[in-house]
Amino acid sequence: MKKYLVIGNPISHSLSPELHNYWLKKYNINAVYNKKKINEDNIKDIITRVRDEKIHGINVTVPFKKSIIPFLDRITPLAKKTQSVNTIFKKNNKVIGDNTDVGGFKKALKYTNYNVKKKKALILGAGGVAPSIILSLKELGIRKITLSNRTKKKAEDLKKKNPNLQIINWDEICDCNYDIFINATSIGLKTKDKINLGYFIDQNGSNFKKKNKVLKKNKLFYDVIYNPKKTNFLLEGEKLGNKIANGKMMFIYQAQLAFKIWHNILPKIDKKLLEK
Ligand code: ATR
Repeated sequence: MKKYLVIGNPISHSLSPELHNYWLKKYNINAVYNKKKINEDNIKDIITRVRDEKIHGINVTVPFKKSIIPFLDRITPLAKKTQSVNTIFKKNNKVIGDNTDVGGFKKALKYTNYNVKKKKALILGAGGVAPSIILSLKELGIRKITLSNRTKKKAEDLKKKNPNLQIINWDEICDCNYDIFINATSIGLKTKDKINLGYFIDQNGSNFKKKNKVLKKNKLFYDVIYNPKKTNFLLEGEKLGNKIANGKMMFIYQAQLAFKIWHNILPKIDKKLLEK
């Protein structure tokens, strides 16, 4: 029986095993997918197990998407561009790192029916998923990306690879002349979490309205978080009359693309799965 794993820290929240095992069963593939909490020190051993074909594929999540790269024999151009690996497999005797977050986010945006072309986006957060979101938006023809992160240095590091990125301070008053607001931080994982940009969305959203003369409806509020289904960020966006989407479809699509890499089947996203 082939073995697949998602590794990260923390990992208990990951729904990847549920999703992959559902498809493995559906397509009668003799394999199992588990989750494993690891430390930096374990990475070398785990990659050796892939080389020895004791493990047949790995998904990588926070905080190892970048730090795993030196342990691999090769990475794909997408993984190189984003410096982020979320899917590992062995081919022609080489352990290879790929990135399906970019494809996953692009498909998820298409699923929202919101046309990104020539729009302006504000990304909040510069963590593991940010480089993939930036590349996806660029490939979809975005006009401008502004990014804000609590720790400014991380935002500036991203700018080194993406010179057109505009960086603003976490507490900077924004002109809010954006079409798309993306929460790529972990704020919202706890239901009480609020994005504390002060002016941006205050306790009841009223500051956002007041200071935002140019605010029009029909913007897109996108949250990478999918559990809870509606973070406060999305609730505020919705209240102000905008289109909202959580990270569920991105999560499903990145998994679908990883499944295709490992099993050469693009699994169906059926109704039962969407209802989960
Ligand atoms: P990592 O940063 O290790 O890759 P992540 O979960 O991918 O982890 O990213 C967490 C993101 O949420 C980061 O952008 C983080 O900001 P910092 O870089 O300043 O840490 C952001 N974040 C988490 N909690 C936050 C908070 N309370 N306020 C503001 N930003 C927060």
